[in-house]
Amino acid sequence: MSLTVKPLDAPLGAEIVGLDARAIDKDQAATLRAAFLRHHLLLLRGQALEDAQLVALGECFGAIAKSRMVSPLSGRDDIMVISNIREDGKPLGQLPDGEMAFHIDQIYRDIPCKGAALHAVEIPEAGGDTMFSNNVAAYEALPEAMKARIETLQATHSFQYGETLRENRTQTQDRPQATHPLARRIPETGKRSLAVCRLMTDRIEGLSESDSRALIDELCDVLENPGNVYSHSWKVGDILIWDNRCTSHARTDFPSTQRRLMKRVTIKDEIGPQP
Ligand SMILES: [Fe+2]
Repeated sequence: MSLTVKPLDAPLGAEIVGLDARAIDKDQAATLRAAFLRHHLLLLRGQALEDAQLVALGECFGAIAKSRMVSPLSGRDDIMVISNIREDGKPLGQLPDGEMAFHIDQIYRDIPCKGAALHAVEIPEAGGDTMFSNNVAAYEALPEAMKARIETLQATHSFQYGETLRENRTQTQDRPQATHPLARRIPETGKRSLAVCRLMTDRIEGLSESDSRALIDELCDVLENPGNVYSHSWKVGDILIWDNRCTSHARTDFPSTQRRLMKRVTIKDEIGPQP
C-alpha cells in the first residue's frame, strides 16, 4: 500500500494518509521515520489498533518503555493507559482529569523518551484537546542575540508524578530532576530545539532566581504562542506520534463526567539531550 505524507496546515505535523497501521512493512516504517524527523508530529486517522499493534507501530521508531502502572484496561506493561474511567472511585488509568500545562515528557530524567504514540479509544464530546509546540522552529526564529545568550546555558527540570499545572506544585526537593542543555541538538538532523517547559523547568543554571524565571517565561511564551502551536481535537481512531525532543505538549480541560480512554506507547531514546 502506498502512503502519502500530507503536511498539516499548522506550524508542525503531517497526516499519514493511506496506511493501515495494523500491519506496517519495512518501506512504510522508513517513510514514517523520515516524516517523524521532518515534521515532529504524525497524525493517523481511522485506526483501531489492538494493544500489540500499537506497540508494533511504536517500535518503528525505537524500543518501547515499560509503563509505571499496568492498567486493567490493557493488562500490558508496555501500554500506558491514560483515562478517567474509574472503578469504586479509583481511576483505572493515569493522568485521569483536567487540564495539563505544556511539558516535555520525562525531561526531568537523564535520558527523556524520544517520543510517544497516543491512540484515542473513547473521547469526551468536547475538550481534552492536545496542543503541540514546534520547539525547533521556535529556536530557529529566536533573535541571534538570544541564540547567543542561551548557546551554552543548562536548565534543571523536575517533576512529581501527578502534577498537571505549575501552580499545583508544592516543594521541589527530593523529586526526580535532571539538568540538560537549553538548546539541545537533535543527532539525526543537527537542528537545535528548545528544551524548556512551563510545567517542569525549575531554573536556568548560573542565573539569579529572577533572571532564571524571566528567561524561562520568555522562552515558554515563544513556544506557546498560538502561531507556534498545533491543537488537535481528537476523534476516536486517531493516533498522534510525536518527537518528544522537538516538541512540547499540553492538554485542555474536559468534563470529568464523560469517559476518556487513550492508549499510549512510549519510545525510548538511546542518549540524553546533547548540546
Ligand atoms: Fe505528556
